[in-house]
Amino acid sequence: MAESRRRVWVSQPLFDDVIGRLGEYFDVRGTAEVQAYTATQIAAHLREADGAVVTLNERIGAAEIADAPRLKAIANVGVGYNNLDIPALDAAGIVATNTPDVLTETTADFGFALLMAAARRITEAERWLREGQWRQWSFGSMLGVDLHGSTLGILGMGRIGQGIARRAAGFGMRVRYHNRHRVDAAIERECGAEYVDFDTLLAGSDHLVLVLPYSPAVHHLIDAAALAKMKPTATLVNIARGGLIDELALARALSQGRLAAAGLDVYEGEPEVRPELLALRNVVLTPHIASASLATRRAMVSLAVDNLIAALGEGPDAGRPATPVNPGVPAIAGGNHKTTAIKR
Ligand code: 8YV
Repeated sequence: MAESRRRVWVSQPLFDDVIGRLGEYFDVRGTAEVQAYTATQIAAHLREADGAVVTLNERIGAAEIADAPRLKAIANVGVGYNNLDIPALDAAGIVATNTPDVLTETTADFGFALLMAAARRITEAERWLREGQWRQWSFGSMLGVDLHGSTLGILGMGRIGQGIARRAAGFGMRVRYHNRHRVDAAIERECGAEYVDFDTLLAGSDHLVLVLPYSPAVHHLIDAAALAKMKPTATLVNIARGGLIDELALARALSQGRLAAAGLDVYEGEPEVRPELLALRNVVLTPHIASASLATRRAMVSLAVDNLIAALGEGPDAGRPATPVNPGVPAIAGGNHKTTAIKR
């Protein structure tokens, strides 16, 4: 009897031509429409799947994989993977992969765009103009805060943080950073970045950019107490995850003039954005698009596809996905894929 092809689930419409490569090896189940799944729906899709390509919108934990006996690999499209419960996937022997590197420069570009838009009040000024309020040019209107000559604080000195630091050199900014671990001296030199403790970073930054990975340990790291330590003239930018900031405390600080401006690309309850933030003029709000250039989003999907093919023991890198996040879980070795049916 002919062996039936293994099945992979693709949770969202991505790029059909890139996703199409999965079809060389697997029976692909996808969707033509953007979906907001319940946990039960995700579990139903995973029940029949050997592998899956998912985005940050799909939370996958113990409940979603409890009845997924064939599932061997989850390829997340994104560098952040806080939507995946890694201990649960480890325990089930499921390989998880992410998409680092390919989005670094695009995301760093966007961090800078958001910083400039917030500090120089670009979207606020545009809205004002479109509202027909520009009746008379005024010397004192829309005064912002300079980037050049200022001190940029970077919280999280991974690849994207380093990309932002390199860009800051071109703006003549002094760069300071804080990170769980101090980075190599060679990286500090290349980025022109000085390591400082968290409180010094808060108090000394004219502009502060958040680029650290989210985990429950850093939930609301930027809370009312942290905001109170920042300069009232400072700008805060978040291109990491919404849960890093206590958004109500931020909205209060912005409305009371205890912080000049903010630029947010991510939100705790996204796609919901708090009305307290929507009501403010001194916050630039974008819909989680830091990695959203066409070339980069295609490269992310391509890496996720390659990772899934390799993790399921197919293709030129069979058994060796390029960017696993739980490398302790072995991928399926090339030519050995029938083991999926009898796993655990
Ligand atoms: C992605 C991101 O668009 O890579 C990340 O961590 O937040 C974004 O670049 C998102 O994860 C898509 O799933």
